[in-house]
Amino acid sequence: MKFCKYISEEEIQAKIEYLANVLNDYIKDDEVVLIANLKGSIMFFSDLLKKIKSNNVIIDFISTESYKGTESTGTIRITMDLSLDIKSKRVILIEDILDTGLTMSYIFRYLRDVHEPSDIKLCVLLDKPARRKCNIYPDYYGFQIEDKFVIGYGLDYNEKYRNLPYIAIVEEI
Ligand code: IMP
Ligand code: MG
Repeated sequence: MKFCKYISEEEIQAKIEYLANVLNDYIKDDEVVLIANLKGSIMFFSDLLKKIKSNNVIIDFISTESYKGTESTGTIRITMDLSLDIKSKRVILIEDILDTGLTMSYIFRYLRDVHEPSDIKLCVLLDKPARRKCNIYPDYYGFQIEDKFVIGYGLDYNEKYRNLPYIAIVEEI
């Protein structure tokens, strides 16, 4: 596969510093649950988490599946549910990329209806607005990107390339 560097490690880290400042202003020292949607958000989540200052922050994970290759199957499945009770708690969902928005719309509805938090905010590293198929916007985002398939820094192509420390655009499969 041919790919080229698109967003460097330094650019990612600078953006995370910025996002953490914004989130710290929102969280203050309150109890907030940070929920990472696995697996794509692992690197973003752990780098961001290190910069959150509240001593009352708790974390949990949810896992979904929708993609095969570079195409969304359109059917979203929860493959792992939360382990904590988040009823009436404030939640920030952390996601690698908002593409069609189908996954996040599904998770939003699922969390709201089944786990009943008091509030859900959405924080994504990458936003691909050109591909949006439903009415969902991130409350916080790192980079708005063009309609290209990207890999690295947690994002995969058929489960591979998640380990790249930077984000790359796939040029040829
Ligand atoms: P959506 O449901 O179309 O918004 O897609 C969300 C999920 O698809 C994300 O959590 C990613 O795991 C995956 N995804 C979307 N676009 C890309 C991409 O460009 N590269 C790798 N994964 C992607
Ligand atoms: Mg994902």
